[in-house]
Order: sequence, then C-alpha cells, then structure tokens
Amino acid sequence: MKNLISIIICSLFVCGSAIAKGDATAGKQKSATCSACHGMDGNSTVPQWPKIAGQKQSYIVQQLMDFKVGEKSGRHNDTMYPIVAMLSKQDMEDLAAYFSSLPGSIGAASPKLAARGKALYRGGDLENKITACTACHGPTGQGIETAAYPRLAGQHPDYIVQQLKAFKSKERANDLNAIMRDISAKLSDDDMLAVASYINGLH
Ligand code: HEC
Ligand code: HEC
Repeated sequence: MKNLISIIICSLFVCGSAIAKGDATAGKQKSATCSACHGMDGNSTVPQWPKIAGQKQSYIVQQLMDFKVGEKSGRHNDTMYPIVAMLSKQDMEDLAAYFSSLPGSIGAASPKLAARGKALYRGGDLENKITACTACHGPTGQGIETAAYPRLAGQHPDYIVQQLKAFKSKERANDLNAIMRDISAKLSDDDMLAVASYINGLH
C-alpha cells in the first residue's frame, strides 16, 4: 500500500533519483559529444581518458553531478566542467543508462607487474594496512551498482594511476568518507603501477 501511494505521488509530482531512471535510447541520441573523447563505443583509445562503457550507471550519474558542481564536490576537471554544465539531471540519467549498457573492453596486464598487482588487488597489504580492492570493486572488477562503487575492469592503467595520485594528493576528494583518499595515501608509486596493470587485464 505504501508503495502504491508513493507511485501515485510520484506520478503526480516529479520524484527524486529513487524513481528517475535513464533511457538508454535517449542517451544514445545525446552521446555524440561524449564519443569524441570517450570513443564511439564508450571505450576511449586515449590512455588518459577513461573508458566509460560498462561503467556502473549510478556511478556515472554521481560523477557527472560532481563535475557539474565542480570544486565544492571534490572533483573538478577543466575538460568535463563545461560539458556537464549543459546537462540536466535527466540527460545524465539517460547518458548513464546508455554508456553502462555498452560492453567495456579489456586489456592485458604486464607480466612483470601482474604478481604484485594481483596480490594487492585480491589480498591488500596487511603490513601497510591497505584494504583489498576486491572488497569494494569486486573479484572481477565489476563494481557495485547499488553502492555506486565504480567498475575498474579493463580501465586504462594511465587513467587509474592518474586517479590514485589525484586521491592521494586530495586533488580529487569526492569519495564518500575519504575511502579512496585513505587507501591511496598508503600506496607507493610502484604499487599504483602494479595494481593498475593488473586491473587493465581483469575480467
Ligand atoms: C574533450 C574530451 C571529453 C569529452 C567531449 C567528454 N569527456 Fe568525459 N572525461 C574526459 C576526461 C579527460 C575525463 C577524466 C577527468 C579526470 O581526470 O578527472 C572524463 C571523465 C568522465 C567521467 C568519469 C569517469 C570515471 O571513471 O570516473 C564520466 C562519467 C564522463 N567523463 C562522461 C562523459 C559524458 C557523458 C560526456 C558527454 C556528455 C563526456 N564525458 C564528454 C574527457 C571528455
Ligand atoms: C572500502 C571500499 C573501497 C576499497 C577497499 C577500494 N575502493 Fe577504490 N573506490 C571506492 C569508491 C566508493 C570509489 C568512488 C569514489 C567516488 O565516488 O568518487 C572508488 C574509486 C576508485 C577509483 C577511481 C575510478 C574511476 O573510474 O575514476 C580507482 C582507480 C580505485 N577506486 C582504485 C582502487 C584500488 C586500486 C583499490 C585497492 C588498492 C581500491 N580502489 C580499494 C571504494 C573502494
């Protein structure tokens, strides 16, 4: 009964994000600008630009909203800022529905770095008190939709390292409860390269 009432109320008034869901077909029509950098299929070919194909829908919406807020959200980026300025919440939901529905491409881990990267990703580092990445990003790097934990599988190593460094320097600070700022603070440059390489081949 409670649900029925909220559905009725929601159809009379505009409801919050709990109800608003993106439309992938509409998102595709709005995606031309994005494809210039993130690739026609959402798998960018430029190592510094993130692949967004297969990324969690909830996470994409969250990041687009953060870029729109800018500095105050903890994630400011000169490239994305002017782009999201023109997007409504519905545009973001639609774009997120579209890009999350596309298959994300997978790379290959460097054989030299894979062992350290795998150990860190799956088991963390007890001595340095680093939580295993798998706890939140999942054993195959798929992330968690309901928690807006991002998918990492197949992501460009350059982009991963860039983000870990941004969290470590606190230049990126939009992570709830400073989860990633805390973890990245304990990672050395070598750890970052190793785990990023492992993630590139993870699936
Ligand atoms: C001119 C190039 C460019 C265009 C056009 C562009 N982006 Fe981006 N996008 C970037 C860059 C660069 C980043 C990484 C920013 C950073 O380092 O924080 C990014 C980051 C993102 C992220 C965060 C990804 C993550 O894993 O956290 C999302 C989501 C995103 N873009 C979606 C879009 C959408 C949707 C559009 C179209 C409306 C778009 N972008 C257009 C360059 C671009
Ligand atoms: C306790 C949960 C948790 C653990 C453990 C964790 N992460 Fe994260 N990670 C997150 C969350 C949440 C975000 C998204 C933050 C935001 O909303 O901006 C994130 C974001 C990231 C990003 C940015 C992704 C993007 O597309 O921009 C990278 C890279 C990353 N994590 C790598 C790692 C690595 C490597 C490890 C292990 C050493 C790790 N994470 C462990 C929760 C976690």
